[in-house]
Amino acid sequence: MKFTMQRSALALALLGASAGAIKVDFTSDDSIKAGASTIAYGLVKYYNGNETGQVPGTLPQPYYWWETGAVFTTLIDYWAQTGDNTYNALTSQGLLFQVGQGNDFLPANETLSEANDDQGVWALAALAAAENGLAGSQPSWQELAKNVFNEFVARWDPKCGGGLRWQIAAVNAGYNYKNSAANGVFFDLAARLFQQTNNNTYSQWATKVFEWEQKAGLISDSYQVFDGVMVESCSKVDKMQTSMSTALFLDGSAVMYNATSSSDWKTRVDGLVKDVQATFVKDGVLYESACEGEALCTVDQQSFKSFLIRSLKATTQQAPYTAATIQPLLQSTAQAAAHSCSGSVDKKEFAGQPGTACGFSWVGNAAFDGKAGVGEQMNALSALTALLSKAPRSQIFPSNSSNSTSSAGPTQPSKTSGSGTPSVSPKSPGNKVAANLLTALAVFGGVAYGLC
Ligand SMILES: *[C@@H]1O[C@H](CO)[C@@H](O)[C@H](O)[C@H]1NC(C)=O
Ligand SMILES: *[C@@H]1O[C@H](CO)[C@@H](O)[C@H](O)[C@H]1NC(C)=O
Ligand SMILES: *[C@@H]1O[C@H](CO)[C@@H](O)[C@H](O)[C@H]1NC(C)=O
Ligand SMILES: *[C@@H]1O[C@H](CO)[C@@H](O)[C@H](O)[C@H]1NC(C)=O
Ligand SMILES: *[C@@H]1O[C@H](CO)[C@@H](O)[C@H](O)[C@H]1NC(C)=O
Ligand SMILES: *[C@@H]1O[C@H](CO)[C@@H](O)[C@H](O)[C@H]1NC(C)=O
Repeated sequence: MKFTMQRSALALALLGASAGAIKVDFTSDDSIKAGASTIAYGLVKYYNGNETGQVPGTLPQPYYWWETGAVFTTLIDYWAQTGDNTYNALTSQGLLFQVGQGNDFLPANETLSEANDDQGVWALAALAAAENGLAGSQPSWQELAKNVFNEFVARWDPKCGGGLRWQIAAVNAGYNYKNSAANGVFFDLAARLFQQTNNNTYSQWATKVFEWEQKAGLISDSYQVFDGVMVESCSKVDKMQTSMSTALFLDGSAVMYNATSSSDWKTRVDGLVKDVQATFVKDGVLYESACEGEALCTVDQQSFKSFLIRSLKATTQQAPYTAATIQPLLQSTAQAAAHSCSGSVDKKEFAGQPGTACGFSWVGNAAFDGKAGVGEQMNALSALTALLSKAPRSQIFPSNSSNSTSSAGPTQPSKTSGSGTPSVSPKSPGNKVAANLLTALAVFGGVAYGLC
């Protein structure tokens, strides 16, 4: 390890590439914050939704709508851990601009293609805003998240014994697929709403979703979280694993353990942590095992490590006994991530401080690997902020008492069955090859267009 680090440091010096690279003294919180600030600056440069004439809450191509929700969660976490509120205004503005008529993150522009996991990622961003007391939502952030929860309950589907389908609209390719990302956002939402409110409806649903995932074969006996299952047979499980789905089930399980002290949830936390180590760690750092080795990760997949890092960090707080296992992994991951933030790329690809673009792969303490983008910046930002320790979010969320009493419910039943809407992409994958291609290509909404 040491040898590798010296060698790459030497290589960088020889190339003169370290000019702008992020240098972090990991013994100093101030230095970690400074590094995080540089990475956050580079991340937000991709976002122009707060500029005149642009649409708040959206990123330019090639980023799908869901990803801005993930960016906002990352920025809220950055603010909560560092106290730097530079991006709070644009975060609030972007989240609120996309709530839609029903206050449920189904804005009209997205309803044709929006999937349950897309909607859930935005709901989780609203929940992070609630937990950390981000200013400015009417109805409350928590109310927005509850509205989405209630819609998920209504969409629970009897095929294969339960579960959410991937797609909301029946006409979309992927409606016949039940995936762990959609059920994972539902699960995490339920667990965290339970922790915030003590309302048993939420804990019952958290338990129900987790147990369904197990019965459906989507969570194995060794707590591997598989991608999804086609509803025609209910037995053909796509065994791809993504760090995002695992992250969602780990996060919610740790919250449920914290809220209940139950040994069932402890068993699940322990199993999922073990699986993270077995599946998503290489050379002591996190990696996206399904695609990183071959450098074949999609734009979506390039952002998933950010979810896993935040989930692991939250687990050390919700289930403190796990810290001894997880903390060293977060530490080595953050160091490798910072090391990768030395990229000098075209201004069109990266507009942050020159020479500080973060790479995707951190294995072997690699220098910048040539991949720059929103996901790469998000992953590295989460990696650095995970080393800072403010109070866990359940304890700092300030506001279940507040302004949430007004008529915040959906103003009308959301149009989710796609009945009257024109079919954008009626293609159904229809066979196994196409189904595998579908899930291999992308996990989130918009995949239908990608296949056209
Ligand atoms: C958008 O946000 C960025 C980052 O905070 C800021 O520098 C910029 O001035 C904002 N633009 C507008 C038009 O407010
Ligand atoms: C929907 O799209 C139109 C056209 O691009 C845009 O003007 C509007 O702001 C968008 N609304 C939302 C909520 O994104
Ligand atoms: C939030 O709700 C929980 C559970 O009902 C309660 O224990 C806690 O005191 C509430 N917090 C605030 C700030 O009202
Ligand atoms: C608990 O949550 C459910 C689902 O949001 C809601 O319908 C119910 O009214 C809540 N119960 C209480 C006591 O607040
Ligand atoms: C729940 O989280 C708090 C805050 O980190 C911690 O003090 C407490 O010990 C946790 N509860 C359990 C059962 O671990
Ligand atoms: C309710 O919202 C108003 C306006 O946003 C704010 O001034 C007030 O402090 C809020 N009250 C609570 C209890 O959060």
